[in-house]
Amino acid sequence: MTSGFVSGRVAIVTGGARGIGAATARRLAADGFAVAVLDLTEDDSRDTVQAIETAGGRALAVGADVGDTEQVQAAVDRIAAELGPPVVLVNNAGVTRDNLLFKMTDADWDLVMHVHLRGSFLMTRAAQKYMIEAQWGRIVNLSSTSALGLRGQANYAAAKAGLQGFTKTLAIELGKFGVTANAIAAGFIVTDMTKATAARIGENWETYVAARAAAIPVARAGQAEDIAHTVSFLVSEGAGFISGQVIYVAGGPRA
Ligand SMILES: NC(=O)c1ccc[n+]([C@@H]2O[C@H](COP(=O)([O-])OP(=O)(O)OC[C@H]3O[C@@H](n4cnc5c(N)ncnc54)[C@H](O)[C@@H]3O)[C@@H](O)[C@H]2O)c1
Repeated sequence: MTSGFVSGRVAIVTGGARGIGAATARRLAADGFAVAVLDLTEDDSRDTVQAIETAGGRALAVGADVGDTEQVQAAVDRIAAELGPPVVLVNNAGVTRDNLLFKMTDADWDLVMHVHLRGSFLMTRAAQKYMIEAQWGRIVNLSSTSALGLRGQANYAAAKAGLQGFTKTLAIELGKFGVTANAIAAGFIVTDMTKATAARIGENWETYVAARAAAIPVARAGQAEDIAHTVSFLVSEGAGFISGQVIYVAGGPRA
């Protein structure tokens, strides 16, 4: 799958232990990037790193909470020292704490903001220095079709909509340094996150996937590789004139 259009550049994928982050880390490694696979603990990231190394790529397992300033700074410093200066950042780490508004706790609200918004802010602030030094960089933030509003997701929808404003501002501030920033509004993707949603609402997984797929114009559920493919494109050399955009990868216009 190696496309040969980049080589040796360093990419960071947050939440890279599983799901969309793991597929993205594997894809960027196949594209020729050295990939820092960052997740809550170094141990969490090991399977993804091993898969990349087995396929002949270069990767580093890094443990950090993306919402913790000191852990983020230490992680980015270590990546720069051990893999090289990071010039691609995929802010993918995420959590859901769904509930109807009247039942949503302060902790449900705060954790979702901590991971998605504070996490993307801290990671980007730490990594942009290397992109500006290189006068080249690519930032991709994982948003969601939920940014348009979804019952039970006041916290998550607000965070994912917030990420879109964050992305557009990054595009404006960093463009003159050769850095682009884009957001992917992912639709329904089969991962542990959506499996947990089905379990929470008490639906059988297969029935849930079939029902969601029936409402998607391309008539199937999304796979993590669908998002990885889009990230691969957005971070490629040729995508340098695309910035500040929200790309829907949802099997249809919005859901
Ligand atoms: N699955 C979907 O349908 C879907 C749709 C739209 C957007 N998204 C977004 O895509 C991203 C990946 O989702 P996924 O479905 O692969 O989820 P997932 O739950 O399978 O994986 C998320 C990863 O993020 C890590 N993570 C959580 N909090 C963290 C923190 N504080 N610091 C570091 N890592 C942390 C987790 O440990 C996990 O490995 C998320 O931002 C999610 O909101 C997913």
